[in-house]
Amino acid sequence: MAYSEKVMDHFSNPRNVGEIPDASGVGEVGNPKCGDIMRMYLKIENNIITDVKFKTFGCGAAIATSSMATEMIKGKSVDEALKVTNKAVMEALDGLPPVKVHCSVLAEQAIKAALADYYRKIGVDPEPIIGPIGDCEACSCSL
Ligand code: FES
Repeated sequence: MAYSEKVMDHFSNPRNVGEIPDASGVGEVGNPKCGDIMRMYLKIENNIITDVKFKTFGCGAAIATSSMATEMIKGKSVDEALKVTNKAVMEALDGLPPVKVHCSVLAEQAIKAALADYYRKIGVDPEPIIGPIGDCEACSCSL
């Protein structure tokens, strides 16, 4: 199994690891395929994600994809962050071995869960905007 240099870089030096104590939204998701868990913290001001941190109890591919995903949504609007798919994250990492594709879904779902928490906190129903979270039918994981 070969990992790209970018995957190795983000695995060895993950960006944005940690917690945000006064986060605007926190999302935790588990991967039913392997039991790994990820928690994502977002700080949102004027609809812009000004800070993002994550913690994962997961494999190297999950760490690398989360690290890249946090870099991709930092400074973006909430709407732009919602459009970040696991496929886009994988492309930014120059791909993942096929058996690790499901790991990248964890990051996408954690972002969505954190945004859903944010919407709930500001009194907006997240379901019509974000759709189901952590639902195998809804995610784009092909495994
Ligand atoms: Fe669980 Fe990768 S093996 S997220």
